[in-house]
Amino acid sequence: MSEAQYDRTKENIGNVLILQHINLCVPDLYLATIFYVSGIGLTRDPYVDFGGPIMWVNAGEQQFHLLQNTAQKWRGHIGVVVPSLDDLRTRLERVGKTLADTEFAWSEADGFVQVTCPWGNDIRVFGPDSFPGCYLGIPYAEMLVAPGTAEGIAKFYERILNTPATVADDNEGRRAEVSMGFGQQLIYQETDGAIPEYDGHHIAIHIADFSGPHAYLAEHDLLTEESDQHQYRFQAIVDPDSGETLAELEHEVRSLKHPMFKRDLVNRNPGQTFFNYVEGRDAFYPG
Ligand SMILES: [Fe+2]
Repeated sequence: MSEAQYDRTKENIGNVLILQHINLCVPDLYLATIFYVSGIGLTRDPYVDFGGPIMWVNAGEQQFHLLQNTAQKWRGHIGVVVPSLDDLRTRLERVGKTLADTEFAWSEADGFVQVTCPWGNDIRVFGPDSFPGCYLGIPYAEMLVAPGTAEGIAKFYERILNTPATVADDNEGRRAEVSMGFGQQLIYQETDGAIPEYDGHHIAIHIADFSGPHAYLAEHDLLTEESDQHQYRFQAIVDPDSGETLAELEHEVRSLKHPMFKRDLVNRNPGQTFFNYVEGRDAFYPG
């Protein structure tokens, strides 16, 4: 047997296989379309139609779910990867006029383009070299939490959700980094600043061991919804030792038998336009 040295733990995936969507209410679906589709360059889901004021927007293997209602705000920022930052800049320039009376803004930052949605959500848009294997998608979302909570939050995800979670402490501060499967993270960043009230936005995750976390959440009265056979919800992230609530973020927890697990999402090539049209390049394929 060879003596090759590899860190086999680097290949491990925990119980969470994907952070599938982030749900944010928006007051105006037309402006949301201009921002997420025309500006960021994502793709409106062509198949799932609710016949009402709901739009799903595909970003690689992830989605934004946008419901028309009072604007919700992610407390922190969301990381998005697009195939080309140059093309992104062109698109953002183009949509600026239509979004002029909103909070929409964008600027260059170190390694990404800082974009603010029409209702104040911070989105950091990265190019395709920033996250291994991600050419289009939502590789992470970072949420602000109170000082002294990162360790307990990491414990919650490790012990209850059974997904790898570590605490990092560096010049960016202290945070819990939670694995959301293949190259995705949910980050809880401690801040001394004020954190806005939780307004009900949510995330959806798919997990392999569906019943284990459910048993704990049921026993500790943490379930907020028994949605159906394939989904339940919880909202409080608690310290498993003390029971203290450390943060709030509604999780739609879905099993791997959920009909939409591994759904093949349609993604267009956002670099393809009327003005530079090339036959056969409508769809986006990574690489
Ligand atoms: Fe959802």
